[in-house]
Amino acid sequence: MNKTDIIPFYGGTHPELFEIERRCMDRPGKVIDFLDQRLPNGKIIDIGAGNGYTAQLLIKETRPIVALEPDEMMIDSTKPLIWAKGTAQQVPFHANTFESAYATWAFFFDGMPDVDKGLAEVERVVKPGGEIIIVDNYGHDEFCALSTRKINSNVDYWTAKGFDYTVIDTVFAFDSVEEARTLLSLYFGDEAGTVNQTVFDYKVVAYTKTNHK
Ligand SMILES: C[S@@+](CC[C@H](N)C(=O)[O-])C[C@H]1O[C@@H](n2cnc3c(N)ncnc32)[C@H](O)[C@@H]1O
Repeated sequence: MNKTDIIPFYGGTHPELFEIERRCMDRPGKVIDFLDQRLPNGKIIDIGAGNGYTAQLLIKETRPIVALEPDEMMIDSTKPLIWAKGTAQQVPFHANTFESAYATWAFFFDGMPDVDKGLAEVERVVKPGGEIIIVDNYGHDEFCALSTRKINSNVDYWTAKGFDYTVIDTVFAFDSVEEARTLLSLYFGDEAGTVNQTVFDYKVVAYTKTNHK
């Protein structure tokens, strides 16, 4: 694993801020519901699993989940997951190991180098006929409007790669204005630190594709 292959993430050094993110982002749990309905039984891999928040909500006896994460500081081994250290660019498993793979807000960001390489790796480790699901910001909502840079994914890129997509209407819902200001100023800078609301419309996109190779 090359260190330069890892996209820096604040969650390992500031777990208390990541705790706010995970609790408040998609507060109604609609992304979890979507993944829960789509993921089959059998071995699944979560690419860029973070601290395992999503995998822990989706794992069940018939659906073991490997949480793949490159940042040692993100790995929470108290969670009952099968952890693997590695990157999307170099998934440390044999071909056709998994029934399905998903990534939530991890690595497959618009304009990042190596997205094609990561996708090829995911296609390699998922069995033919298995489903690949990539989750990211859709944009066109109150949350993304807070950013001065583009933070939504590129639907054209993924549809050109043969993915369908579903837009999930959800919210970022904070417990207090202070909490909203704390996290949003971390993301977007000082101006977002003056917000006066706790709930922000948030659209998430889930790209889905049956793996053919
Ligand atoms: C925004 S967090 C999302 C974590 C998790 N998927 C979630 O939804 O809570 C992005 C994660 O991707 C990881 N990451 C960074 N570079 C990566 C790479 N090259 N391949 C896979 N994951 C990577 C980061 O360490 C971080 O844990």
